[in-house]
Amino acid sequence: TTVLVLNGPNLGRLGSREPDVYGAQDLDALRAVLEADAGDDLRIDLRQTDDESELVSWLHGAVDSRTPVILNPAAFTHYSYALRDAAALVTKAGIPLIEVHISNPHARETFRHTSVISGIATGVIAGFGFGSYRLALQSLRYTS
Ligand code: DQA
Repeated sequence: TTVLVLNGPNLGRLGSREPDVYGAQDLDALRAVLEADAGDDLRIDLRQTDDESELVSWLHGAVDSRTPVILNPAAFTHYSYALRDAAALVTKAGIPLIEVHISNPHARETFRHTSVISGIATGVIAGFGFGSYRLALQSLRYTS
């Protein structure tokens, strides 16, 4: 089985971007951690894009291939109805989609308190650094 780990805008800059908020490790480090957690029978397909349409296409692909998704929508979380609709295609098809955040958006600026994704996500994990992704990977065991 493959798990898609999709990351939205500016997350390609992890490691140097606001390390006080997001930590000092980059996406390659995240991939390594998740691959170690996944073991042999699970493949981690981790991607990042700054492009909304690319993220939408990847979610369409997840529907077609029935691949579970861990999604950090980054700033799109707060306003992208296009991403929400694409994510809804995934969960309405009965495929799990876990929304994750490195930080806890609820403890930050007011504009981060709204997620247009959460209402259609299978579940949401935020505030644990890269641990949010690791917990999301574990959580897939508890989805049908
Ligand atoms: C984020 C939180 C968002 O508010 C922000 O725009 C990001 C990262 C997180 O992982 O904590 O880019 O999704």
